[in-house]
Amino acid sequence: MRLISHPAAEEDLKSIADLYLKSFGKPWEIGLIRESFAIPGTFAFLKKNGLCIFRIAADEAEIYYIGVTENIRRQGIATLILDAAKKFLTEKNIKKIFLEVSEENFPAISFYKKSGFEIIGRRPDYYSENDRKIAAANMAFYL
Ligand SMILES: CC(C)(COP(=O)(O)OP(=O)(O)OC[C@H]1O[C@@H](n2cnc3c(N)ncnc32)[C@H](O)[C@@H]1OP(=O)(O)O)[C@@H](O)C(=O)NCCC(=O)NCCS
Repeated sequence: MRLISHPAAEEDLKSIADLYLKSFGKPWEIGLIRESFAIPGTFAFLKKNGLCIFRIAADEAEIYYIGVTENIRRQGIATLILDAAKKFLTEKNIKKIFLEVSEENFPAISFYKKSGFEIIGRRPDYYSENDRKIAAANMAFYL
């Protein structure tokens, strides 16, 4: 497992773009990834087949994305990556991890619940998909 931190090397940005596409099924433009990693406090844990991107601000961290390539899911890889992130954040004295996830993303919500996150709120109409609005669930884990 590799920890990528800001400012990320060009080669790492390419790995992130590749893993994002393979896990989420939609591209994330490399220029936008570069912009994200230009912001201090941005980190990613990378494995060959999965990644987690998060950002620290004060004593909280937000998970922006976690994903594992489709062919090797349900083998504990996201759990392994999230555990590494939790350990890293504990060492940095972070008290809370939070995130937003589509209410319709049942695998992700199940995963986060299994990992100890709880739903702490709801944002209606947060995402849109082909003109259809989808609510986000706000989830948190307290370290
Ligand atoms: C969510 C995701 C990261 C989980 O990755 P994973 O490596 O398959 O997860 P794990 O194997 O560590 O799963 C741990 C637990 O989470 C739950 N879980 C994971 N996927 C699940 C699914 N499809 N349905 C129900 N529960 C699920 C289970 O409780 C699982 O334990 P079990 O397999 O012993 O039952 C993966 O499905 C993914 O990449 N999805 C696409 C990207 C995405 O939507 N990311 C979230 C946006 S922030």
